[in-house]
Amino acid sequence: MEETNLSNNETPTKRLYIETVGCQMNVLDSEMVVASLRRQGYSLTRDLEAADTILFNTCSVRENAEEKVYGSLTRLKRLKERFPEKVIGVMGCMAQKDQKIVFDRAPYVDLVVGPGQLHRIPELISKVESGAGQQMAVSLSRKGGTVDEIKRSHESFDPLRDPTMRPTPFQAYLRIQIGCDKFCTYCIVPMTRGPEQGRPPEQIVEEAKILADQGCKEITLLGQTVNSYRYKDDAGTVNMSELLRRLHPIRGLERIKFVTNYPKDMTRELLETVRDLPKVCPYLHVPAQSGSDEMLKRMKRGYTIADYMEMMQRIREILPQASVSSDFIVGFCGETDEDFAKTVDLVKECRFKNSFIFQYSVRPGTKAADLLPDDVPADVKQWRNNELLRVQNEISAEDNCRFLGSRVQVLVEGPSKVSVKRGETGPLRQMTGRTPCDRIVVWDGNERQAGQLLDILIHDVSATTLFGSVETRDIPSDVFLPTLTLQS
Ligand code: SAH
Ligand code: SF4
Ligand code: F3S
Repeated sequence: MEETNLSNNETPTKRLYIETVGCQMNVLDSEMVVASLRRQGYSLTRDLEAADTILFNTCSVRENAEEKVYGSLTRLKRLKERFPEKVIGVMGCMAQKDQKIVFDRAPYVDLVVGPGQLHRIPELISKVESGAGQQMAVSLSRKGGTVDEIKRSHESFDPLRDPTMRPTPFQAYLRIQIGCDKFCTYCIVPMTRGPEQGRPPEQIVEEAKILADQGCKEITLLGQTVNSYRYKDDAGTVNMSELLRRLHPIRGLERIKFVTNYPKDMTRELLETVRDLPKVCPYLHVPAQSGSDEMLKRMKRGYTIADYMEMMQRIREILPQASVSSDFIVGFCGETDEDFAKTVDLVKECRFKNSFIFQYSVRPGTKAADLLPDDVPADVKQWRNNELLRVQNEISAEDNCRFLGSRVQVLVEGPSKVSVKRGETGPLRQMTGRTPCDRIVVWDGNERQAGQLLDILIHDVSATTLFGSVETRDIPSDVFLPTLTLQS
């Protein structure tokens, strides 16, 4: 990647507005794009009118995610008429999936850049600015060339890290794998993100060391099926367990998490590695998607409920303290009341920490869109969504009760959205953090706690949150760090 000589300390010449939707991969991609543009002299703004460049990092996983972006783009039409010199860009999965359609639907968009071509953004913005007209950079489609050509066109974008670009400087995502080869029939990701490719372990370890040197205490390794991670070269094959063993000794790192897991690759070896490496958090997000074998077959998930339960058994045996969470799709093609009842049963049996529940959304370009009718009515999807959420929340609230009166370790993320209160020793803020098992904890504290690992005594719980207090010496309340703000 080309870089200018402008350092971060020089007066920024341009302003960037960026909006991000979608998964953690997109959050990380936005961090990288912002960092690369900062090195070109950009600073961030939350004000559309003040921005020289406006970027939307988009998601295609469900139709409503796309429609929201097209809605936002429509609202920019006027702005672009008033300020034609502003550069408007659409990046991410929807850019890759829709390509020229973005220009058709919003002709005032200047840039369309797929997730495999993000390194080209600074150069393409310059082109637009110099009057070269609309620019598009996308990767090859899954049938657009040889396997190697397709892989090369989906480039992992992991340049230098910039701690100021993250929601907190002491937590970071670290990409270990791009793409996906599982081709679940409902899912667009293999098309937008291309073939599954593991990043070389040496690069990952190097990046983790840089992050730790920057003060990062927690890294979350990212991949669509992160536990399928594999990197093969002349020196041999490195799998997820080996990668964790290589990351574990890095000084300064306190916690290693990884998402999202694929049930079939949750091996005994990996679970034992998690057990044996204290920094690796016993938190496993392993989406089941459905509790019905018939649905799993139609989704082409590659496992049965018996396989999934066997995996749960393995987790409970090797990592009894682990929290497990899941994703579910309700109202997938042909899902009957009986199929749905089996999903409810699975949730009751597995007692997940939490579940993300989605209503099936047809994605053109997928197998399901081509072959299976979307035949569950919208109101039935909505009802199943609510019902499954109700069952899951009841379980989460019940299971959280066992934390009452116990101490949990949190990595303090920062102030919660609740405002400042007056405490006995001065102003208090409601702070928030997460346990190693990814449970959200809030307590009355002090902004100076941000980034620390603290023990919190829990005295109240809800389905989603543990409420507690710090059991340490008084923390001076007269010194406050500036509020940590989330990047847009
Ligand atoms: N790679 C991850 C998740 C990818 S997308 C995995 O395999 O688990 C995140 C979640 O979105 C999926 O787990 C699934 O539950 C949901 N999802 C994907 N495609 C969808 C679709 N077409 N309609 C509704 N939900 C979908
Ligand atoms: Fe989509 Fe399935 Fe790949 Fe996950 S594993 S990204 S759901 S195709
Ligand atoms: Fe969405 Fe792309 Fe992530 S489709 S869920 S942003 S990989």
